[in-house]
Amino acid sequence: MQNPELSPESLVVSLGRPPHELDAPVNPSITMTSTYVGALTPGADERVYARFSNPTWDPFEEALGTLEKASSAALLYASGMAAIAAAFNLVPLGGTIVLPQTAYNGTLSLAQQKEKAGHFSVRIGPIADTDATVAMLDGADVLWIESPTNPMLEVADIAALASAAKERGILTIVDNTFATPLVQQPLTQGADVVVHSVTKFLSGHSDVILGAIVCADPEMRKRLHGERTLQGAIPGPFEAWLALRGLRTLSVRVEKAMATAGELARRLEGHPNLDSVRYPGLPSDPGFERARATMSGFGAVLGIYVKGGAEAAERFLQALQLWTPATSLGGVESLAERRRRHASEPDSVADNMVRLSVGIENVDDLWLDLDQALRASS
Ligand SMILES: Cc1ncc(COP(=O)(O)O)c(C=O)c1O
Repeated sequence: MQNPELSPESLVVSLGRPPHELDAPVNPSITMTSTYVGALTPGADERVYARFSNPTWDPFEEALGTLEKASSAALLYASGMAAIAAAFNLVPLGGTIVLPQTAYNGTLSLAQQKEKAGHFSVRIGPIADTDATVAMLDGADVLWIESPTNPMLEVADIAALASAAKERGILTIVDNTFATPLVQQPLTQGADVVVHSVTKFLSGHSDVILGAIVCADPEMRKRLHGERTLQGAIPGPFEAWLALRGLRTLSVRVEKAMATAGELARRLEGHPNLDSVRYPGLPSDPGFERARATMSGFGAVLGIYVKGGAEAAERFLQALQLWTPATSLGGVESLAERRRRHASEPDSVADNMVRLSVGIENVDDLWLDLDQALRASS
């Protein structure tokens, strides 16, 4: 394993490589198998069966665990939602989970489904308001943080919330999909568990669906590993390999996308066809001071509010040429989506809000396309 003291841009390139030996390949192989030759003596340490483990998962799991500053490897899952479902199993039966009002709608929908089925109770609160969230913690079992949130880009004070949760014996779980471990490492701020949609920035090319969990406590990892083996939401070997391939360029992709997002946010602010712009890196944004104090970047997702309502926002999307109108985020290609086109998106998200996921194209090309499409929206 590489020295975890290396900087993240060196770690993403060097972690999870085969040893430097004559004729060794520089990349790990993809192991396509459902089973392994078994031990002939009882008690041997063996892989047994490919639902239990696959050597293709190991390099990515070790790399993500190191990037998130955990003492043990991450666990990969078949999707971000599979990871979230696995993390929800940490709420005891009949227990209570506190969730952000503006969390990813899949997370909120699954929590509400589980509440309906009697698995646990859900309390939904304003995650950017630390005092109000802390006031909801008494008697809860798990605090779920997403920061920045999808798609409202609210920024939470992870350290303060995790500390208040710890005082009450409550587990803190952070969805770190939007920030990535390059921008914040929630375990170093007192969180117990980190989840990711690996589909997004970590893989980075919009060609895989994957999720991951990282635990501060190796015993909790062991428990989740056992549950993953039995529940079966495992990654395919090719997807795990593609995710590692994508991770190699995480720092160059995310740094470029963040720089472009900041520049686009500055140019968009005050645009005659917009009501407002949301980006934690804008000094006018409600999350700016907290993001500046607690994150090493502001992320690569923006929210724009198109003047003229949902119809004008739809006209804007139809006029885009370089930007792709599509859901998801975190890929090398820039995507735009009016979130309220989904019936499941809560009406706390305005219906003229378009989420922009900034990719790595040229900033002026991206700007000119946004500007012409906004002018066409009125
Ligand atoms: C913040 C966040 N968490 C989790 C997920 C779910 O991940 P997946 O689509 O990989 O299941 C998403 C998907 O958009 C997301 O944005």
